Amino acid sequence: MKITFYGHATFGVEIGGKHLLFDPFISPNEKAAHIQIDEIPADYILLSHGHQDHVADVDTIGKRTGATVVSNFEIASYYGNQGHAYHPMNTGGSWNFDFGKVTCVNAIHSSVLPDGTYAGNPMGFVVQGDGKTFYYSGDTALTYDMKLLADRYQLDFAFLCMGDNFTMGVEDAVIASEFINCSTIFGMHFDTFGYIVIDHEMAKKQFADKGKKLHLLAIGDTTEL
Ligand code: NI
Ligand code: MN
Repeated sequence: MKITFYGHATFGVEIGGKHLLFDPFISPNEKAAHIQIDEIPADYILLSHGHQDHVADVDTIGKRTGATVVSNFEIASYYGNQGHAYHPMNTGGSWNFDFGKVTCVNAIHSSVLPDGTYAGNPMGFVVQGDGKTFYYSGDTALTYDMKLLADRYQLDFAFLCMGDNFTMGVEDAVIASEFINCSTIFGMHFDTFGYIVIDHEMAKKQFADKGKKLHLLAIGDTTEL
């Protein structure tokens, strides 16, 4: 399984021979200026919520690739109305796609689309495929609901927000990694704006102290799991 970090909360995951793209926010991100947005592959675009820093490049990438937008009913329909292929879901629901299974799970945050359109409730995703299971938290606070994921799944790795201010910070993300019983963590939603700058070495140490590995990929980096 190939994982590419495109900055902020944007990850590409190659699974089941398909390219999943999470929360594309690249062109407005100065830190991702070296990313060639026209070359990012996508068969599916998964959106955790409607905020601009998660959907900015959906239209551009979706129109070029013909990718299917997967999100809650409100957001998926919104892009459907703009001509994108879409698959509406909602929290608690699962669907078997051609690459694997997606389950929408709870996230504690807010959600509205950049033009003010109501965007329903924010969510995270659990994805199962290629013999692996992973969790993408979206923007969220630490919540006891994360313990359900440990009961329900054997997570191989997880993408956790950890920039603080808008979402949980590093300390809470460490607790989240314990709640979900997962030892391989990819950090996201850090360093993009002044509000969410984190100390990388300190963050890695806090996870290491609990026997966990924190990956803070450089923007553009690809890793294989
Ligand atoms: Ni947000
Ligand atoms: Mn955000």
